[in-house]
Amino acid sequence: MRTIKVGLDKRSYDIHIGPGLLDRLEDFLPPGLSPRCLLVTDAHVDRYYGRQVSSKLEQAGFSVAKAVVPPGEALKSFASARELYDAAFDHKLDRKSPVVALGGGVVGDLAGFIAATYMRGVPFIQLPTTLLAQVDSSVGGKVAINHPRGKNIIGAFYQPQVVVIDTSVLHTLPPRELRAAMAEVIKYGVIEDASFFDYLEGNMDRVMSLEDAVIQKIVVRCCEIKAEIVENDEKEAGLRAVLNFGHTVGHAIEALGNYQLRKHGEAVAVGMVVAGRLAVSRGLFKDAELNRLSRLLKSVPLDTELPAEWDVQRAVELMVQDKKAYQGEINFVLPETIGRVRLEKISPEELKAFLLNL
Ligand code: NAD
Ligand code: GLY
Repeated sequence: MRTIKVGLDKRSYDIHIGPGLLDRLEDFLPPGLSPRCLLVTDAHVDRYYGRQVSSKLEQAGFSVAKAVVPPGEALKSFASARELYDAAFDHKLDRKSPVVALGGGVVGDLAGFIAATYMRGVPFIQLPTTLLAQVDSSVGGKVAINHPRGKNIIGAFYQPQVVVIDTSVLHTLPPRELRAAMAEVIKYGVIEDASFFDYLEGNMDRVMSLEDAVIQKIVVRCCEIKAEIVENDEKEAGLRAVLNFGHTVGHAIEALGNYQLRKHGEAVAVGMVVAGRLAVSRGLFKDAELNRLSRLLKSVPLDTELPAEWDVQRAVELMVQDKKAYQGEINFVLPETIGRVRLEKISPEELKAFLLNL
C-alpha cells in the first residue's frame, strides 16, 4: 500500500492506494465523525461492493443509510441531489456525519456536491471504483452536478477527508471504461512526466491486463502529480488548468455526441491529438513527439480521429461557451514536449481556421 498526502493546510488529506483496501476500510476512516453516514453508490457498483462497504462501515460503528442511484451521467442532476438531501434528512445526518461516495466519477461528483452543500458542508469520503475516478476525479475536490445547459456548471471546490483507492475493484470494471480512463493516465505523462510516459510505452500490455504492481504504480504516479498540482493551485487560478490538456476539444466532442456517443476519456484522447497538432502548427511541438502520443493512445487501444458527428462551427461555439473560456478567447493547453505543456489563448476565428484545415 502507498499513501500520498494532499497538503492543503487544514483541508489536507491522505490518499491510500493498494489492492484489497476496502476490506480494511475501518483503518482509514478519519477520527471525529458522527456515527451516522450516507453511503452513495450506483446500481452496478452496489452489486459488486455495496454489501462489503456497508458492513465495513457498520463494523466501524456507523448506522448506514445507503442510497443506490441508477448508473450514468444523467444522475448528476438536481433531481438526484434532491433525493439525496431527503435521504440525509431521513437518516438525521448532522454536521459531522460523513457522506461516503462508492463509485466512479459520477457518484463521486454528485455525492461530493451533497457533502459540500448539506448543512453547508459535512465530511466527505471518496472510495473511487473506476480507473478514471482513481487517477483523477476523486482527488482535488471538484464536485458538481449538471445544469441542463451545461455539464459540471453547478458545483464547488470541496476536498474529501480521505480517499481510499482499492485497485482490486478494477477487475470488474467494463473494459471500455478502463480504456477510456487510460487517456487521462497518458495525459499525466504528457503534462508532467516524460519518464512516466516512457514507462507506459513499455508496459501497456501489463497495464491493460491489470497486473497489481503495474496498476498500483500508475495510480500512485497519477495521484502524486494531481496532488502536487492541486496543492499549488487548488481553485484553478492558473497552473491547475494543465489538467485540462485535451479537454477543450474533448468536451466539445462529448457535447456534440450528446454525452452518449463518446466517453469522457475517449473524447480526451482525440482532444489531446488535436491539441498536439495545433502545437505542431504553431512550431511548439515536434511531429515525432505527436506521433509518439498517437501511437501510445492507439496501443490502449483508443481512437485518435475526430468523430463523424464533429461539426467545426458548432464545436467552436461550444468551446467559446465553455466555463474555461474567458472574454471570448479559448484557453488551450499545448504540449511543448512530452512532459511539458504551456497555456495559450486562441481566438475563435483562428481555431476555426485551424480545425477546418485538419
Ligand atoms: P461513471 O461514474 O459513470 O462509471 C462508469 C461505469 O462504470 C458506470 O456504469 C458504473 O456503474 C460502472 N462502475 C464503476 N466502478 C465499477 C467497478 N469497479 N466495477 C464495475 N462497474 C463499475 O464514470 P467515470 O468515468 O468514473 O466518471 C465520469 C464522471 O466523472 C463525469 O461526470 C465527469 O464529469 C466526472 N469527472 C470529474 C472530475 C473531477 O475532478 N471531479 C474529473 C474527471 C471526470
Ligand atoms: N479534472 C480536472 C481537475 O481536477 O482540475
